[in-house]
Amino acid sequence: MLTLNVALSERSYPIYIGKGLIDGDLLRRHVRARQVLVVTNTTIAPLYLDRVIAALSGLQVDTLQLPDGEKFKTLSVLEQVFDKLLEARHARTTTLIALGGGVVGDMVGFAAACYQRGVDFIQVPTTLLAQVDSSVGGKTAVNHPRGKNMIGAFHQPKAVIIDTDVLSTLPAREFSAGLAEVIKYGLIRDREFYRWITVNIDALLARDPALLSEAILRSCQNKADIVAEDETEQGSRALLNLGHTFGHAIETATGYTSWLHGEAVAAGMVMAAQLSVELGWLAQDEVDGLAGILARAKLPVRPPQGMSARQCRELMALDKKVHDGSLRLVLLRAIGDGVVTADYDEAVLMRMLERDCVAGD
Ligand code: NAD
Ligand code: GLY
Repeated sequence: MLTLNVALSERSYPIYIGKGLIDGDLLRRHVRARQVLVVTNTTIAPLYLDRVIAALSGLQVDTLQLPDGEKFKTLSVLEQVFDKLLEARHARTTTLIALGGGVVGDMVGFAAACYQRGVDFIQVPTTLLAQVDSSVGGKTAVNHPRGKNMIGAFHQPKAVIIDTDVLSTLPAREFSAGLAEVIKYGLIRDREFYRWITVNIDALLARDPALLSEAILRSCQNKADIVAEDETEQGSRALLNLGHTFGHAIETATGYTSWLHGEAVAAGMVMAAQLSVELGWLAQDEVDGLAGILARAKLPVRPPQGMSARQCRELMALDKKVHDGSLRLVLLRAIGDGVVTADYDEAVLMRMLERDCVAGD
């Protein structure tokens, strides 16, 4: 088992990475009192819930299965968590356990931030995206009809328990979407990791256990460093949004149905890299290399056909990173050196979008 630490003084916590970790005594060790509520969804419950319950024997273990899907990441569905906690008389010393991907993790984290003004929770992420990104860092939220993740809180977990075995049941498309976030860390701050990914991408896609553990470890280390530096996104944490402004435009244009988040981020990272070429920071062969790696990971590298440059630009303007009317983008000064900047020429951005959107998939 590998262990990392997210260094946030009194809110510090461990990240454990290893095989079969949902079965051992790790979970139990991080439960503060005698009550736990394990929240999962209807897809993951038949696969892993019994094993988690068994690992918590001797405690008051209540369980809740939410419906599966981003469309259920709402305040009204979240009420089921509060109903369950109150019905089973959970005290302020209770611990919530999030067993699932980013949707379950974000919802349970937010419920833990709110219940009796804040209780403990543990992340047990089951998708690659959740293992390398969403389970670490304490961003919790639900969606509002007018915007994704618009209602939430920063609330750090007490531990993140990453059992790499559970990835064996993850559908291939979801796995690839998680790889987009792995590649992101290399691009924004870890050139050597990026080089390592380019060498190992085929074996990673084949879920080679040793390489996968290494990729999760290095991703979590990068995320833990960023979170320790900037817990509430006043500065450098925004680098984690590489490709996301373009990606959100793609997700919105396609109605949040046909593209997975990681797929939109992949195409968005190529667009951010292409703009970085236009600014004279990256070489064209570096962008082509990036597109090649993403394509090998079975990810899209171009925006969807039918999204015009103008539509893309308008949707980008709705991004959370708009400050005082100017749109800040995460761009690349070099591979491994991301920057958040509004210092680019709008005409250059539009030229790039016109070329890319015409050539879209
Ligand atoms: P998800 O939670 O919807 O999971 C994807 C699908 O895989 C679901 O159908 C789920 O039931 C299924 N699944 C999960 N684990 C499985 C397993 N081991 N075997 C078989 N099926 C499994 O999607 P996601 O990509 O994990 O997370 C996306 C969410 O994460 C979004 O809501 C996004 O906003 C959020 N997010 C949050 C952060 C953060 O910092 N908090 C960062 C990135 C993304
Ligand atoms: N995934 C974005 C963040 O944690 O800040």
